[in-house]
Amino acid sequence: MSPNEMKKLAAKAALEYVEPGAVIGIGTGSTVNHFIDLLGTIKGKIDGTISSSETSTERLKALNIPVYDLNAVGEIPLYVDGTDESNHYLQLIKGGGGALTREKIIAAASRKFVCIADQSKLVDVLGEFPLPVEVIPMARSHVARQIVRLGGEPVYREGFVTDNGNQILDVHGLSIMEPAKLEGQLNNIPGVVTNGLFAIDPADVLILGTPEGANTVY
Ligand code: A5P
Repeated sequence: MSPNEMKKLAAKAALEYVEPGAVIGIGTGSTVNHFIDLLGTIKGKIDGTISSSETSTERLKALNIPVYDLNAVGEIPLYVDGTDESNHYLQLIKGGGGALTREKIIAAASRKFVCIADQSKLVDVLGEFPLPVEVIPMARSHVARQIVRLGGEPVYREGFVTDNGNQILDVHGLSIMEPAKLEGQLNNIPGVVTNGLFAIDPADVLILGTPEGANTVY
């Protein structure tokens, strides 16, 4: 079975968490795209969505699914998003698509974060996937030097601008033994907007698409 088919299986299983009349937080990426398409088939059942990127917003709107401003709603019952890596504690590395800041905001504003992925995303130790860090453009070199001190090898994602008008450093060479500690350390560097570790506040549920079906990890 292809990774794409496994992503689809995970997305389908996440539909079970959708409650009638709810506003749903929507992540970004190829796995979430499957979820958006499935949501399109039950759109009459939900109130609307909060989107984490211009790309997801475009897809939601094309399916006539309402997209609201986060400031216009209260706490969101459910956030559904993909991931680049997850460990067994459901701590994640996200941001391969560059949408990490809005993703982290919506995840924080949601009661339940259901993460959907194909089985290849589950790892023992986070860090093989380069950790994305969104930075204010003027601080990029300063932040990069601080990251080197922390043992990482930052690489500027050239030509890429986030939906917030910022830049991304992808940090290679990390074997992240204490994800929550590193998340805090990176957040403390002036100029860092967000880093792609979701470790202090991990996902609540991880649904992995496998050749045998969707496998839910709590
Ligand atoms: C977007 O910035 C990322 O956080 C995505 O959620 C992550 O890269 C997963 O993407 P795929 O679903 O395409 O693997």
